[in-house]
Amino acid sequence: MSGGRPGDRASRTLLFTGKGGVGKTTVAAATAVRCADAGARTIVLSTDPAHSLADSLDVELGSHPTPVVDGLWGQQLDARERMEESWGDIKGWLADVFEWAGVDGVEAEELALLPGLEEVFGLVDIKGYVDGGEWDVIVVDCAPTAETIRLLSLPDVLRWYMERVFPTSRRLHRAVGPVLSRVTSLPVAGDAVFGSAERFYARLDGVKEILADTERTSVRLVVNPERMVVAEARRTATYLSLFGYGVDAVVANRLLPDGITDPWFDRWKESHAEHLTAIDEGFAPLPVLRADLAGEEVVGLERLRAFGAALYGEQDPATRLHDGSPLRIETRDADVVLLLDLPFADHDELDLGRHADELIVTVGPYRRAIVLPDSLRGRSVTGAKLDAGTLTVTFGAARPPTRRSS
Ligand SMILES: Nc1ncnc2c1ncn2[C@@H]1O[C@H](COP(=O)(O)OP(=O)(O)OP(=O)(O)O)[C@@H](O)[C@H]1O
Ligand SMILES: [Mg+2]
Repeated sequence: MSGGRPGDRASRTLLFTGKGGVGKTTVAAATAVRCADAGARTIVLSTDPAHSLADSLDVELGSHPTPVVDGLWGQQLDARERMEESWGDIKGWLADVFEWAGVDGVEAEELALLPGLEEVFGLVDIKGYVDGGEWDVIVVDCAPTAETIRLLSLPDVLRWYMERVFPTSRRLHRAVGPVLSRVTSLPVAGDAVFGSAERFYARLDGVKEILADTERTSVRLVVNPERMVVAEARRTATYLSLFGYGVDAVVANRLLPDGITDPWFDRWKESHAEHLTAIDEGFAPLPVLRADLAGEEVVGLERLRAFGAALYGEQDPATRLHDGSPLRIETRDADVVLLLDLPFADHDELDLGRHADELIVTVGPYRRAIVLPDSLRGRSVTGAKLDAGTLTVTFGAARPPTRRSS
């Protein structure tokens, strides 16, 4: 079980996300069943506490890998369990801070859980599964997009804090901590808190490394042919790309089947066709997999099998359906350029900044600090443009080393 089996090919991780109710769980479950039927050792994980994955597969799932059918295991990630493991100390301290700030006890405990953070802890299991080499395919049924993006952006945000705020406050704590706690009653984070924050961050960073590796992980966006759903999927594609996650396909689900001829559906068919064209064109060159609206709920292995067969046809669901990495570095004559795909992003919502060895890219409400590789650190930004969904930042000739004045 541990250390991996020598000669094993690296496992592939497939993440399914999309607006609420579009069919994420169904597509994830059908994909997992199809991978297992093709002979891959597959595990399908759900971070959704509503147990809909179990309903979809029509089996009971526990918080540990539970056998579903030959080659397929399912698991309901128990975020709370993982959270208690790594978050206990930090939570305790936060609760103290809230209490100090006048928030009463019970409420403070709850606040310290930080809404949405729980899910992140579920994801740490993925790292163990990838490192363990026990699975060929790991399928993840994610929460609706907003939470997923917050989740996937968290490692970057935390890195920023870990590198800036923590060392500073830690130094401060060492120097004035004992005095501070005597003078004021503000609870000062102790070594235990810093220790668990660091461990937590390390685990999360390990997950990010896997999920943002386009060779190992593919994100698939599930949509329905509806205006609001497609609009949200476009935003999701932008933000996923900003944080370096590779979307390799779009799944257009619940399309009206050709066989429907009742004139009552004529307008629906027209509007589906329009949205489908918009999806094909907007997300190109990504492949758009199609799934018709079934005549009944897609529940249980047999229906999932039929759904998966129609969705993937001859393609292996586990392979990368589109190659490409959102972030690339290229040399052009004397310049080095950083290319970041930001599909559907507007000039108006884009902001760029340089801070020491980081390039800070802001798109709408999201900000990523991209740590510059060595090849770019000594260079200055000489130009930037957003064109056809790709941000190109040009770094000019290397600067001579400057002496720091302080
Ligand atoms: N193509 C389809 N044809 C018919 N029914 C479908 C289809 N796709 C999904 N469904 C049904 O729609 C319901 C919702 O699907 P599902 O649970 O997969 O959505 P979800 O995106 O995971 O929802 P949530 O955001 O709540 O997690 C389920 O009952 C499922 O069986
Ligand atoms: Mg679901």
